[in-house]
Amino acid sequence: MIRYDKQSRLLVLDNGSIGYVLYVNEAGYIETLYFGKKLSDYTELLAVRGGEVGCSSYYDPVKNEEWSYADKYRDDRTPLEVSSHGLADKRGAPVVVRGADGSFVTDLRFAGVRRSKGAPVLEGLPCAHGNCETADILLEDARLPVRVHLYLSIYADKDVLLKSFRIENAGRKAVRLVRAMSMQLDLPRRNYDLVHFHGRWAKERDLCRDEVKDGVREISSNHGRSSAEENPFVYLQERGGSADRGEAIGFNLVYSGNFKFRLLSDKFCGVHVTYGMNDEDFEWKLAPKEKFYTPQAVIAYSAEGTDGMSQAFHRFIREDLVRYAFDGAYKPVLFNSWEGCYFNFDTELILSYIDDAATIGTELFVLDDGWFGARDHDRAGLGDWTVNKKKIDLARVMAHCRERGMKFGIWFEPEMVNPDSSLFRAHPEYALGGEGTLGLGRHQLHLDFANADVVENIYRQMKAFFDEYPVDYVKWDYNRTVTDHISRALPADRQGEVYHRLVLGYYALLGRLTSEYPHIMFEGCASGGGRFDMGTLCYCPQIWCSDESDPAQRIDIQFNTSLGYPLSSIGSHVNDSPVASYAAKAALALFGTYGYEMDPRKLTEQECSALSETTALYKKYHGDVIERGTLYHLLSPSEGNTMCMQCVSRDKSASLVLFMNKLKEWDIFRFVRLRGLDAKKRYACSFDGRTYSGEYLMRVGLNFSEEMLAEFDFRLVVLTEA
Ligand code: DGJ
Repeated sequence: MIRYDKQSRLLVLDNGSIGYVLYVNEAGYIETLYFGKKLSDYTELLAVRGGEVGCSSYYDPVKNEEWSYADKYRDDRTPLEVSSHGLADKRGAPVVVRGADGSFVTDLRFAGVRRSKGAPVLEGLPCAHGNCETADILLEDARLPVRVHLYLSIYADKDVLLKSFRIENAGRKAVRLVRAMSMQLDLPRRNYDLVHFHGRWAKERDLCRDEVKDGVREISSNHGRSSAEENPFVYLQERGGSADRGEAIGFNLVYSGNFKFRLLSDKFCGVHVTYGMNDEDFEWKLAPKEKFYTPQAVIAYSAEGTDGMSQAFHRFIREDLVRYAFDGAYKPVLFNSWEGCYFNFDTELILSYIDDAATIGTELFVLDDGWFGARDHDRAGLGDWTVNKKKIDLARVMAHCRERGMKFGIWFEPEMVNPDSSLFRAHPEYALGGEGTLGLGRHQLHLDFANADVVENIYRQMKAFFDEYPVDYVKWDYNRTVTDHISRALPADRQGEVYHRLVLGYYALLGRLTSEYPHIMFEGCASGGGRFDMGTLCYCPQIWCSDESDPAQRIDIQFNTSLGYPLSSIGSHVNDSPVASYAAKAALALFGTYGYEMDPRKLTEQECSALSETTALYKKYHGDVIERGTLYHLLSPSEGNTMCMQCVSRDKSASLVLFMNKLKEWDIFRFVRLRGLDAKKRYACSFDGRTYSGEYLMRVGLNFSEEMLAEFDFRLVVLTEA
């Protein structure tokens, strides 16, 4: 899969379907010759280096001109793996190091390559594993005593590449990293749209499409978390392409903090992408012999439309990223107390919730915010993780769940503290921020997770809780962005490390708890979907997708999220928003993880039976069809009034289709061509009781034409091999 031929200087990474081909030029720069479908002969690719544009012109071995590279280096147009900084290449380097002399010039050149099985382990960071091979390319700076390892991995069974750097100080004096991104990708064309997912609270991941044009485009977060404002999932789609046509190149980062995806379309009309941690306010002091690992960038490729890219990401996340040992096993139907009663509960109310939740098939009851410290409202209590025994008898609640055959879960927000808490009163220095800069968000302060003592304090509190109350599930919330990024635990010349150290503290705590309590399923959350990213997914197999469960917005949120993340990771609940029927909301939640969030005492018998019908479908089909099956995006709600998604089991024997519209519509032909079925198989269709061939369903389609479809009208179709 990976080979380097010293003679031709070609480094090839390929699998059965894609190829990534690099050329180490005479000056030691690594040129990116090709990224696309696998070719049968890579040596032909050397022709890419010819011609006026795109050729590497700083040295001509044929004419054997006697000029030094330094004199003549004027080439800023060759697609490269790692651009230099401070030299003629002005496109933007992924790594910039300030030497001990204060200089910025960074000039990394090839010094060797080694091949190994598996993915690299990135100390302190979540990272992928699985069936891949890695090229560990050593780069040495032309001037500074800095050695950089560029890790490039390719998977054998999916069209996914990984990229990251390890930066080492090989000198005797400290150097400073002022940019430490994870990757560069240069392409010699730009007929792409850049698709990204902009948003805000309760409207996360709105699909935005920009034509790639001259100049720089940046998709980034400086909120301290991956954020609701922009998601780290971004893709390039060949112009005019669709879910099943045209090239698509997806990017994501195994990281939960500030990120920056920067795309430059330069004067030569190529595309230059750098992606990784945001360099805003970033500066990392690297002492002699110290190493720095950048987060892992993940690239998924498809030559046949965006669904190929989505499916590659889905399988990668499920098989090679999530560490939760029980992922893939049956996930219980979840009931969460938050939207039903918020902070206003006592033991009796929760016991009655559990009883009523049982009637709609609940298998895991989750007590959300409000059970600890002085937490009767959001102005107090965070940081004090001991049960408020006056309010709730947790042992009785857990026993009641067990009697009903239910599991039990609980809510935490470990990285935060309210000024009105015992923790803050005892340790005001544990909060992030300097003298007089304590900015509140939702009445709370961010704990200084750059300080290991703070992380240890919260770890001990959570451990004491888990040891006394053996819960099955934890919802890990995070309800504000980072401001006042000043750590009182770090010296002046290390304040540029705060943003990244906060994220490392988050991973240290989450990693420690998930490995000490492997049976507990941790679900990520951040004011809804404000930290929906691959870093969190490494520890948490699912993430609460959004606080908005109303189909008016949810249709888009869920569909768009599933373009980059598997349905099994998308926390979805049926709530009691009056906009759509329970049945419609349940059908939507079915295309995610499935749960409820309402006052269950208010459900009528009719509503209970509508919900129970969908719950029965969940229990029957979730594992094979939704969780482990293949997802097809048939109609995008960003492009019209209707959304349609389809999941097909791996053996193609069963499929679920959800068709849902937003506004009311009259008299429209609605044939939706299905995908991924076996053309030769026959399928019984729950929608009209007929039997169809796979060929018919894929060529002609399901006929959803009706005189009128009301708001949020939907058709949930089950196809099973006849
Ligand atoms: C924000 C989350 O998104 C909600 O689901 C809920 O857990 C609240 N926080 C609790 O404070």
